[in-house]
Amino acid sequence: MALLIVLMGVSGCGKTSVGHALSKVTSLPFFDADDFHSEANKKKMQAGIPLEDKDRIPWLEALNKLCKSNQERGIILACSALKRSYRDLISKDIQIEWVYLKGSFELIHSRMSQRIDHFMPSSLLESQFKTLEEPEDALVVSIDQPLESIVLNIQKTTMKSAIGLIGLGVMGTSLARNIARNNYSISLYNRYVKGSEEGIADKKIEQFEELSSAKGFENLKEFVISIERPRKLILMLTAGDAVDQVIDELAPLLDEGDLIIDAGNSHYNDSQRRYDSLAKQHLNFLGLGVSGGELGALEGPSLMPGGSKVAYELVEDILKAIAAKTTENKPTSAYVGDGGSGHFVKMVHNGIEYAEMQLIAELFEMMHRGMRMDYTRIATVFEDWNKGELGSYLLGISVDILRTKDENGYVIDRILDKASHKGTGAWSLIAAAELGQASSLIASALFSRYTSSKKRYRTKLSELYPAKNNKLELSIEDLKASYSFARIINHHQGLSLIHVASKKNSWDIDLGVVCGLWTEGCIIKSKLLHRLKPVLDQNLLPLSYESIVKQINKNRSSVEEVLSVLVKSDIPSPSLTAAFEFFKQLIQKESSAHIIQAQRDFFGAHGFELRSDSSSDLHHYKWNK
Ligand code: 6PG
Repeated sequence: MALLIVLMGVSGCGKTSVGHALSKVTSLPFFDADDFHSEANKKKMQAGIPLEDKDRIPWLEALNKLCKSNQERGIILACSALKRSYRDLISKDIQIEWVYLKGSFELIHSRMSQRIDHFMPSSLLESQFKTLEEPEDALVVSIDQPLESIVLNIQKTTMKSAIGLIGLGVMGTSLARNIARNNYSISLYNRYVKGSEEGIADKKIEQFEELSSAKGFENLKEFVISIERPRKLILMLTAGDAVDQVIDELAPLLDEGDLIIDAGNSHYNDSQRRYDSLAKQHLNFLGLGVSGGELGALEGPSLMPGGSKVAYELVEDILKAIAAKTTENKPTSAYVGDGGSGHFVKMVHNGIEYAEMQLIAELFEMMHRGMRMDYTRIATVFEDWNKGELGSYLLGISVDILRTKDENGYVIDRILDKASHKGTGAWSLIAAAELGQASSLIASALFSRYTSSKKRYRTKLSELYPAKNNKLELSIEDLKASYSFARIINHHQGLSLIHVASKKNSWDIDLGVVCGLWTEGCIIKSKLLHRLKPVLDQNLLPLSYESIVKQINKNRSSVEEVLSVLVKSDIPSPSLTAAFEFFKQLIQKESSAHIIQAQRDFFGAHGFELRSDSSSDLHHYKWNK
């Protein structure tokens, strides 16, 4: 559909000159509404008799007809359209881009007085201003600027972009460049903060070649108007209040059916809440998990969209175009499920990421401090593992990290041993606790970061409890098998967490699809995920799959060997230990939990189920007879 632009405003605001200039740059034909008056109206006006509303109705209907018949090629129409009812008639059953040329009484009056050919008594202009009902949904353009700027402003906003993006930090900019590289027209918005964030969008457009045809804005309303309907708006903001604030500002500017996509690392409950509240306003919402860091966002991230299917379909093509591609050229973007499911899956991705990182750190410490291997040797071992089935993005970057040296030596030696976090690991663990899932690898990895951050306290206690510093006799083969073992348990726990959350929230998440999304583009991409995909496609969790069972049974003795050596050392192995303990508990047909049930009943009469009773009925025993 082509553009139907109506330039409105009081007499003398410049509708005709703007219309002609705009027509030149857009090649859209220009029409003046005055030419569509009936002969009777023209006669009345020539006689100085003011028109009544009833005289205007056929004229406004004629303008509506003019617009309708030009929907395919588009037009520019100059019409004062001072009252809302006039505008409603002109835009009946069609989509008009209203442009309100706004100026003060004084400015217009003084401009008109300077025109020899057009003297306007102030009373006439006053009456125009009195009649004017300012539009709420128009692009408002100040006439107090050169004609070229007015035209450029209108052109920028009315030539619609396929999509808009708000928030031009590192991730937002990379994503915008990726979208533009895939030939989608894009509008960019960044807030204006005097002294710190000024002209950000325009600067990015200047800086990056692929953004040269993007449109930059600091005015949210103009930005919104510049996007084609139904509008698709990506928010790339710091998770939390900032997202709500922008949504609150945006929502009143949007039309029914427009779509807000939150691509930050938001909490899934926030996404669910935003989804529900925007649905009440007839607006669509997608919580989009994005993984892959800055480079991924630019060259192809893994995308985890959750929300309504209808909303997803509005952007399915764009998301698939910008996502990473698998070796079979399949995009790593697919609909995850309803509500907050996209951000839930991204959160668990990060939980798995935490444990994968922790396991590499543990292995590094075993080799370095325990086995006295230098960085070069460790890097060679990791590199060797990375070539085989243990290959992963995180292992690969660890090789690079261990080899990175400059004039001051190894970079890794200068980094303080305190691990930070931004919250997604903690959220995963809270979700696991709420859903009754023993996500012990996420817990151990998260708690290890917490403990690492207490550097001063650790330093103090290390003086009270001297280290053994004994050299460890461990085989690289056992370490490799243990790493493989723990990674399977880590993925099993993460995927189980998603499975349970999906059931509880009726998200209907297909774990095979999720696994596919994680095979490329994201931080946890690995050969293991390629291997697990067909397992999950069969609706099996990793530990029930035949070839995994074989491998776990084979690797078990290596884990036992490694842990038995570590237990007599001061090298911690929280995640490897957690993996093994979880496994031992999970394969135990008979557990010791009956003792706990008895204790609970003893001191609190909490009741217990009976082995002989298949119902879940609770029974008590009179322990203190
Ligand atoms: C990703 C990353 C990304 C972010 C981590 C960092 O998938 O691209 O996970 O989202 O870098 O969330 O998290 P922490 O600061 O908590 O380690």
